[in-house]
Amino acid sequence: DNKKIVIAIDGHSSCGKSTVAKQLAKQLGYIYLDSGAMYRAVTLFALRHQLAGNGKVNEQALIARLDEITIEFRLNETTGENETFLNGANVEEEIRQLPVASHVSPVATIREVREAMVQQQQAMGKNKGIVMDGRDIGTVVFPDAELKIFMTASPEVRAQRRYDELKAKGQTMSFEDILKNVEDRDRIDSGRKESPLKQADDALILDNSYLNREEQLEWALTKAKERMEVGD
Ligand code: CDP
Ligand code: CDP
Repeated sequence: DNKKIVIAIDGHSSCGKSTVAKQLAKQLGYIYLDSGAMYRAVTLFALRHQLAGNGKVNEQALIARLDEITIEFRLNETTGENETFLNGANVEEEIRQLPVASHVSPVATIREVREAMVQQQQAMGKNKGIVMDGRDIGTVVFPDAELKIFMTASPEVRAQRRYDELKAKGQTMSFEDILKNVEDRDRIDSGRKESPLKQADDALILDNSYLNREEQLEWALTKAKERMEVGD
């Protein structure tokens, strides 16, 4: 018989974390939780209330209003995917746009924001059977996760993937702008004081620069099944 485990996936921006996390959750019948969407939703709230803009964030003002923010995930019956809701409204599309992308890393450096998000994330994972992706899942949110994966790929490969993804949706953005956003976020996420992006000592590295979606799933599924075997 198999035991339920927690799978923590961390890594650089746009390297395929949510793709592999969703694939794994589907195969294993687990819950998928996109922790980045939560930081994006807080950022959207800040932008809408003029607590952020022009690349800057008014930290104290945002902290003072954190209790006005409710984030939920609801299943879209048609696509079978979870969508992000901010105070009851679907914001799944809007949190993926550039204004949010270019303010989310500064918002995610704020300790009070992180504490509020981590608390919710831990509550959602308390019964295990969950795949969560982000930056601090294996280091801070679930330090005891049975499987930790640290993903990466070259910045150019990652920017190209984001570019292709936007293009497929009919949106155009310059490759250079996307590359710059990817590199800026890597720098802020890795350099911040609160829960910086770093590989947990016991994480397995997955560099998918040259792996397609099927290959990365096979790799991750094998690791997950090993950890799910009841042995102890
Ligand atoms: O999907 P992508 O890699 O572009 O980013 P994301 O996972 O949606 O996360 C957006 C931003 O939220 C990251 O660049 C981090 O600044 C922040 N984040 C974080 O600090 N901690 C997490 N657990 C997840 C995201
Ligand atoms: O969650 P994260 O920001 O790390 O990345 P993602 O949203 O899962 O993946 C970014 C883009 O790369 C998506 O369009 C994926 O379909 C694509 N991708 C890919 O082309 N090949 C892979 N092996 C993994 C992801």
